Amino acid sequence: MANVIVIGTQWGDEGKGKVVDLLTEKANLIIRFQGGNNAGHTLVIGDEKIILHLIPSGILHKGKLCIIGNGVVIDPEVLLMEIEDLQNKGYMVSPENLVISDRAHVIMPYHKIIDHARDIQRIGTTGRGIGPAYEDKTRRTGIRMIDLIHEDMLKKQLDNICDEKHAYMTKILGAKTIDKQCVFEKYTKLGTRLKPFVTDTSVVIHNATKNSKDLLFEGAQGGMLDMDHGTYPYVTSSNTVSGQACVGAGLGPNHIDKVLGICKAYTTRVGEGPFPTEINDELGERLRAFGGEYGATTGRPRRCGWLDLVVLRQSIRLSSITHLALTKLDVLSGLETIKVATAYKSGETIMENMPADLMMHPDLDLVYDELPGWEENISSVRSYDDLPPNCKAYIGYIKETLGVQAPIISVGPKREQTIILENPFE
Ligand code: GDP
Ligand code: IMO
Ligand code: MG
Repeated sequence: MANVIVIGTQWGDEGKGKVVDLLTEKANLIIRFQGGNNAGHTLVIGDEKIILHLIPSGILHKGKLCIIGNGVVIDPEVLLMEIEDLQNKGYMVSPENLVISDRAHVIMPYHKIIDHARDIQRIGTTGRGIGPAYEDKTRRTGIRMIDLIHEDMLKKQLDNICDEKHAYMTKILGAKTIDKQCVFEKYTKLGTRLKPFVTDTSVVIHNATKNSKDLLFEGAQGGMLDMDHGTYPYVTSSNTVSGQACVGAGLGPNHIDKVLGICKAYTTRVGEGPFPTEINDELGERLRAFGGEYGATTGRPRRCGWLDLVVLRQSIRLSSITHLALTKLDVLSGLETIKVATAYKSGETIMENMPADLMMHPDLDLVYDELPGWEENISSVRSYDDLPPNCKAYIGYIKETLGVQAPIISVGPKREQTIILENPFE
């Protein structure tokens, strides 16, 4: 029995969805604990590709309970569309296998308008209203799922906030506005449809732990997008580190047994902000083409670069990561040499940790190690021993330099394209 947190170690899109889907076989509850539909988690089952934004990536397995925890911000319209979409594809989604926290905050139409008018250009956000929704949560003017499903409460909350939002959107942002009555009517209907799913999920999780069930926590985004520890202000508006799993699901840290970090064999980033190992030539384009590096949520091309051990060291330290799942190693096949950044250099100072001061970034030099690449296509390799020697050396280098295990090696998007040396639940 084990309770495992799965989180991204870079700037998101490391392959969390694939790994969570795979590990779900051994888990009982799969729990999202932060973020919202800014996430795009891709699962490839046979020839079918499914992208999940809000529903945990365990939903395709029968007999598992998926939970959207209190730390998530929920766009009710998107969630209902996702539920319907899965049902149309033949997957069961009902209150029997999906429950939503009554304390999770709701993304309202004004949040999306504000995100578009204010943050898309500045930060390169996904435009899904995530930041403005978390802003209202901390400001104590947010609407929670429990408020959404009670007509009177929703009305009261909208009466409290809509005039101010209207003034901000029109006078300060020069953006379009919303009609309070239309929002009330639409969101009352959405609330009614979601009501059967809404419950106190912390109690559900607590009861599961009492019955020795295995919990799998599914992080969204990645360590460098963490609001406190990432490349602020070019981050998302939630904490993405492992500690957030407890806060955003509603249980204490003594229940956590293992933290598995998902690490792409190179680095990508979507949106604005520093990216020290970014490759701005044909090589970067090659990684994008071979790795299919286009956003699963917005379709934006992802910026691509070499693996960055400064980033990984930071994520490992902040989240107590002991095990890594290395993904997309197949994308590196055919490169003569592979570079890995081991530190940054500012003048004569070597920096092994990410500086808080973003002003330093344009002037940083990179310290690289170079490793020999491999020619072979590894996407059909299923045993560690059959990997090319230089590929094994690359994996060994990462493990040793960072002092972690690498029990899962992914060589393609499909479930079966995975080498599992040790299952974290065993
Ligand atoms: P997530 O947000 O961390 O779940 O990752 P995304 O789904 O946004 O992006 C990862 C992309 O890489 C998806 O298209 C996956 O299907 C794909 N993928 C995952 N693992 C592998 C792998 O080992 N090799 C290749 N080539 N693709 C992978
Ligand atoms: P998954 O879970 C990659 C990025 C956005 C932007 C910044 C802030 O699929 O790994 P936001 O809309 O959250 O306010 O945008 O964060 N971002 C992601 N990048 N993967 C994600 O999720 C992301 N979610 C947000 O591109 O730079
Ligand atoms: Mg993604």
